[in-house]
Amino acid sequence: MPYLIKQKTILIEGQTCKMVIEAPHVASKAKPGNFVILRVSENGERFPLTIADVDQENGTIVLVFLIMGKSSALLYSLNEGDSIMDVCGPLGKPTHIEKCGTVVCVGGGTGIAAMHHIAKGHHAAGNHVVAIIGARSKDLLLFYDELSAFCPEVLVCTNDGSMGVQGLVTDILKARLEQDKNVAEVVAIGPVPMMQAVADCTRPFDVKTTVSLNPIMVDGIGMCGACRVEVDGKTKFACVDGPEFDGHLVDFNQLRQRLGAFKEQETLSFEEYKCRCNNG
Ligand SMILES: Cc1cc2nc3c(=O)[nH]c(=O)nc-3n(C[C@H](O)[C@H](O)[C@H](O)COP(=O)(O)OP(=O)(O)OC[C@H]3O[C@@H](n4cnc5c(N)ncnc54)[C@H](O)[C@@H]3O)c2cc1C
Ligand code: FES
Repeated sequence: MPYLIKQKTILIEGQTCKMVIEAPHVASKAKPGNFVILRVSENGERFPLTIADVDQENGTIVLVFLIMGKSSALLYSLNEGDSIMDVCGPLGKPTHIEKCGTVVCVGGGTGIAAMHHIAKGHHAAGNHVVAIIGARSKDLLLFYDELSAFCPEVLVCTNDGSMGVQGLVTDILKARLEQDKNVAEVVAIGPVPMMQAVADCTRPFDVKTTVSLNPIMVDGIGMCGACRVEVDGKTKFACVDGPEFDGHLVDFNQLRQRLGAFKEQETLSFEEYKCRCNNG
C-alpha cells in the first residue's frame, strides 16, 4: 500500500527535509520514541526514521531526515503528492514517560526533531521540560519554534555563536546540572559523539540519562541481528529492546565501529546514484 506525502518542507536546502506522511495505522498507535522503517520504492533498501510528530485526527506522521546516502537522497527527491512504497511501524519501545519533575531534553542536529516528540510527551505528563538544542550555526538549527510552543525553557547553543551561547550542548547542560539539583532525567538524541558526551557529562551528577541509539537496522523486528548494541556488557537488539537505553551503560565505541561497517559500499552506492541523477 503506497503512503502519500501530504507535505514536504525543506528545512536546510540540499540537506534536511520534513515530510508529513499519510499513514493512519501508524499514527493511531505511535508514541514518543517510536520509529518507522521505510522502503521508498520496490527495489529500495529498508531504513529507519524516528516519528517526530503525530496527528492522529488526520492520520499523519512527521518525519525529519538528513541526506546521508542513497536512500535518504531518494526520499528527499520525492515531492508532495508522491508516494512511499512501505512505511512499517510504529516500531521500537516507546519512551518511558512518567511525572517526575524536571526533564532536560538535549538534541543535536537532526536529532532535535526526534527529541521534540519525546519532549512533547514529557510536557503532556506534567513535567517541566528544559530543551537544550545545538547546531553548527543559526541557519542549521531545527525545531526552535516547535519546541518554544510548549517548553518553558529552550536553551540554544551554536558552534559559531550566531544564536544563543557559543559552545556545545554539554556546556549548557553542565552549567544547568551544577545549579539545579532537581533534574530527574536527561534525554539525549543526536550524533553518537554528542550522546556519548552527554552521558559523560551527567555521570558525575548521577542523573538518569536516556539516549536513543541509531545502529544500522534492517528488519526492525528483532530477527536479523543487524542492530546489535552492547549495554551493560549484554547484547541488546536496539529495534526491539530500544532504541532508548541508559546512556551510562552503552558501549558507544562499539556502536560507532558498527555504524561504519559498510562505509565503502554506502559511498559506492551513493556515488552511483548521484551519477545516474546527473546523467538524467
Ligand atoms: C531508530 C533509528 C531512528 C533514526 N531516525 C532518524 C531520523 O529521524 N532522521 C534521520 O535523518 N536519520 C535517522 N536515522 C538514521 C537513518 O536511518 C540513516 O541516516 C539512513 O538509514 C541512511 O541511509 P542512506 O541510504 O541515505 O545512507 P547510507 O549511505 O546507506 O548510509 C550512511 C550512514 O547512515 C547509517 N545507515 C545506513 N543504513 C542504515 C540503516 N538501515 N539503519 C540505520 N542506519 C543506517 C550508517 O551510519 C551509514 O554509515 C535513524 C536511525 C535509527 C536506527
Ligand atoms: S534490525 Fe534486525 S534485529 Fe534489529
